[in-house]
Amino acid sequence: AGPKASAPSSRPVDVALQGLARLEYRGYDSAGVAVVDDDAVRVTKRAGKLANLREALAESSGSTETTGRVAIAHTRWATHGGPTDTNAHPHLGGHDHELAVVHNGIIENFATLRADLEADGFRFASETDSEAAAHLVAREMTQTGDLTEAMRRAAASLEGAFTLLAVHRDAPDTVVAARRNSPLVVGLGDGENFLGSDVAAFVDSTKEALEVGQDQVVTVTADDVRIIGFDGAEVTDAARYTIEWDAAAAQKGGYPSFMAKEIHEQAGAVADTLLGRLENGSLKLDEMDIDPSVLRSVDKIVVVACGTAANAGAVAKYAIEHWCRIPTEVELAHEFRYRDPVVTEKTLVVAISQSGETMDTLMAVRHAREQGAKVIALCNTRGSTIPRESDAALYLHVGPEIAVASTKAYLGQIAACYLLGLFLAQVRGNLYPDEIAALMSDLEQIPDQIQQVLDSSSQVERLAQDMKDATSVLFLGRHVGYPTAMEGALKLKEIAYIHAEGFAAGELKHGPIALVEEGQPVFVIVPSPNGRHSLHSKVVSNIQEVRARGARTLVIAEEGDDAVVPYADEVIRVPATRTLFAALLTVIPLQIFSCELATAKGLDVDQPRNLAKSVTVE
Ligand code: G6P
Repeated sequence: AGPKASAPSSRPVDVALQGLARLEYRGYDSAGVAVVDDDAVRVTKRAGKLANLREALAESSGSTETTGRVAIAHTRWATHGGPTDTNAHPHLGGHDHELAVVHNGIIENFATLRADLEADGFRFASETDSEAAAHLVAREMTQTGDLTEAMRRAAASLEGAFTLLAVHRDAPDTVVAARRNSPLVVGLGDGENFLGSDVAAFVDSTKEALEVGQDQVVTVTADDVRIIGFDGAEVTDAARYTIEWDAAAAQKGGYPSFMAKEIHEQAGAVADTLLGRLENGSLKLDEMDIDPSVLRSVDKIVVVACGTAANAGAVAKYAIEHWCRIPTEVELAHEFRYRDPVVTEKTLVVAISQSGETMDTLMAVRHAREQGAKVIALCNTRGSTIPRESDAALYLHVGPEIAVASTKAYLGQIAACYLLGLFLAQVRGNLYPDEIAALMSDLEQIPDQIQQVLDSSSQVERLAQDMKDATSVLFLGRHVGYPTAMEGALKLKEIAYIHAEGFAAGELKHGPIALVEEGQPVFVIVPSPNGRHSLHSKVVSNIQEVRARGARTLVIAEEGDDAVVPYADEVIRVPATRTLFAALLTVIPLQIFSCELATAKGLDVDQPRNLAKSVTVE
């Protein structure tokens, strides 16, 4: 949601729509906007993408001309109720429709609230949980006459997760918001202020931002921002910060899609993750504020994450166990949280999340801390909830990632995992200083090598065009090639809607090989022949096994690795590096493949169906 409090030159509705355009990646099955006038709150909303809302507004341009100075807007990812015009936000509340709200999250006690409000004569138009919040705030407003107090009382009686914004006919200069377990930031402008689910909503207008804490209500006008807790106490210590990237970073910059742009930014992204973290041959992670004695006492690591971030976590396991000899588990955050895992004060939980807002991951973090574990967050988004609720954070610094399917953040996450692993090895004395220096020096070569992979993308692009009618694609790998196979398959599912599976190559013969028939495309990620030799030769055997059954083998192998040539229908080359670090290179052709193939199918690469960039519900 992206409201604003005033703008001398632009209409509130335009500013709100611009914010929505920037936030559309968070959900895009419907969109809407509310403006406040002397006599009424006016809402326009439509199912489908933002373009539908713009069309509706253009047809009824009079409805957005307003004397009011505020607007609130929303782009939705449906939870309760399908993506229809009626279920779209904003929702009107009150007997007279004198108020409108937008809501992110899920209100768990909405059924009880709804029954109570209906008994009180409030009429519901939609199937959403959010509409209950609208009527609730409206009822409190009737009783208190003060929108901030009305919001505070309403918020205190809501259960679940919410960022809730309200405007009211009787407070035409004000937006009031409340947050619990859902993201909300304030943008501080000059004679204008903003609210958004993330800073992208207002970065065109201001780089100054203010964090809103858990269980707080914020009241925003053109000149004033005031925060109180749900208990009514004034909050005076809200953290203020300056956004590091500019609006251009959130634009396509000549690329056909954000995803294509973000793929091509990856050399710089990884360089930025590594930047300033090596000093005189030793690692310095000052940003990660955690007592070294805590790291020395750790006897187990659990990495928790979802989606692409979980695939990055799977790479971390190989690196951390190899370098630090600490048992490391990787688990999907939602499974970890609800299965009574063994977590003690000596457990280090590493939570990986690009957005820092994934609810499943956040719940895992909270659970781990309740059990006494220390939590380090690897995140990309400053001020987001997961790093704030963790004991320490290591930021990726890859800049804003807009495309729903993660690419540069994935590489940043893997690079951050390497940094964390090497730092642990340094603190605990598992590796000699010269070993760490040698590893870091190889890691610092990676950005140039990423650029080489990007510069030779035409082969994969051709392949993708050629395979656009494929109905099934398999991906095989061992060691860090296994998470790479998983990630390659995930990308293809996410944006090209092709059935794809990633397998550990060794597992092939235990089942998946039954899927292989004449012409079945199989990508195989081959480890370096210079690493542990058996690993390389075993993967080469796996290529032969699928080829013998008719597979079309698409092999990603190191430059100069001739052993794969006789068994490959196509060899895609990547520069030589250590086996562990290859995870930062071999995935890139797979990202390009999916992006190109989905584009060739005419799909919207940046906004794939049914998905959202940050999933802030469990
Ligand atoms: C969603 C997105 C995925 C992403 C996952 C984790 O499911 O669609 O692309 O990998 O969330 O997101 P996070 O922000 O926690 O890394």
